Amino acid sequence: MSFYVTTPIFYGNGSPHLGHAYTTMAADVMARHMRQRGEDVFFLTGTDEHGEPIAEAAEREGITPQELVDRTSEEFREMVRKVDATNDFFIRTTDGGHVERVQELATRIYENGHVYKGTYEGWFCPRCADFKGSSEIGPDETCPIHEIPLTREEQENWFFRLSAFQEDLEKLYAENPDFVEPAFRGNEALSFIREGLQDVSISRSTISWGIPVPWDPEQVVYVWFDALFNYYTALGYAREGEDLTPVFWPASWHILAKDILKFHAVFWPAFLMAAGIEPPERMFVHGYLLMDEKKMSKSLGNVLDPFEVIDRYGADALRFYCFREVSFGQDGNISAPGFEARYDGELANDFGNLASRTLSMVARYRDSVVPEAEAEPALAADFEGFTDGIVADLDEAALGDALERCWVLVRRLNRYVEETKPWELAKSEDSEDVARLDSVLYGLVEGLGTVTAHLVPFLPESTTTLLAALGGGEAKLAPFGSRPGGYRVEQIEPLFPKVESGDGTGG
Ligand code: MSP
Repeated sequence: MSFYVTTPIFYGNGSPHLGHAYTTMAADVMARHMRQRGEDVFFLTGTDEHGEPIAEAAEREGITPQELVDRTSEEFREMVRKVDATNDFFIRTTDGGHVERVQELATRIYENGHVYKGTYEGWFCPRCADFKGSSEIGPDETCPIHEIPLTREEQENWFFRLSAFQEDLEKLYAENPDFVEPAFRGNEALSFIREGLQDVSISRSTISWGIPVPWDPEQVVYVWFDALFNYYTALGYAREGEDLTPVFWPASWHILAKDILKFHAVFWPAFLMAAGIEPPERMFVHGYLLMDEKKMSKSLGNVLDPFEVIDRYGADALRFYCFREVSFGQDGNISAPGFEARYDGELANDFGNLASRTLSMVARYRDSVVPEAEAEPALAADFEGFTDGIVADLDEAALGDALERCWVLVRRLNRYVEETKPWELAKSEDSEDVARLDSVLYGLVEGLGTVTAHLVPFLPESTTTLLAALGGGEAKLAPFGSRPGGYRVEQIEPLFPKVESGDGTGG
């Protein structure tokens, strides 16, 4: 089966911060997990490079928009690499392949009769690149997201007949109750639809930095129309000489944050329907990472620098922290002390120590060879249904639940060490104790290997090291007890070494 997951494409008017990394890491966890399940995976991320905000930012810097996005897209690419994301393609909306396809799609929608010329007047946020409806305007005509003044704008534009898609959209939601997850976000989108949809302007005449409207090259395509289609156009040119569209469309999951819900959950399926293309299967709308209760954003200046965290602690630690600390789908506070507490308590102590002590006990008591024994039934019982649970969690993008399911077992294994006291069994000559120690050690290694394999999507680097030490165990989602003993294991350096705390987390 094929699995296609996307992140939003990031605005090329700023630099990457933890919010962007968060979305990317989430999509990567899902992509890696599905690869473990043997699915044919395509994972897309990239940069959104047209529109007013980019043109304005370039002007402020005294460079061309192209120079600006050439630089910022590299920064985003670097961010993606640093968080250890395994994207299959990095799209830029300035790619010739994208531009060409957006023009084709716009023409198709125009020829299908869904576009007309009209005048638009309204309150506009240059950062959102969006006209605001009456319920989306903050005090004194400000943008509630960016906390900046809105501008009054009037434009002669090409309009998309969104209003004509009301019924089709309601039907889409009725027939696909899990189209938008979590459900409360779907309800939000649906009530927006039910309130009555207004047509949307899909071109701009006031700027030139964008894709020319094919039938009216004086205008450029509205940046959101251009951007949303990235999810579709990329499949057409990501692999030279190959069209991946039939393999991967419709997308399995779009991952995004709540600020762009309306575009994805209302506009996007309507644009696709107008072009005669199937809507995506599902989208997952996560919350914001907050610092001091405020959304982290460059414009508010309260960012935790993912690059610094990764340089000090590694990408695994950041990936783990984000999905462990904040329930995926909700807003949540993050902080440098919170990060350090999880790193020390859960990665270094719970997981890192379990790995070290297990490997060193096998070395000490059994000359590094895992006993050919069976695990004790009480331990085996606690692993029952583990893989199915993880699969079910990740099918619903419940990243935190999957991590918790792993941690329950990490803790169980540590308790098992305390309960069985292998160091005492090792002192005994009694054949029952010798056999029990075999079984205990086998159970520990097998349990550690099983949890580790399931943690690969979250902790790709440290699990690779650990699986190699566990005799080259594969990252397969195999059930507990399926790998017979008899193989050698190796000692490793601490997976999550203590780091002197400092200002590295930017808190
Ligand atoms: N370019 C548009 C998306 C177009 S998709 C067709 C855009 N770009 S963005 O760079 O501003 O933000 C993209 C995404 O980054 C958000 O949807 C969200 O997934 C993520 N985040 C940015 N700040 C965030 C937080 N503070 N917290 C969590 N994620 C946030 O919107």
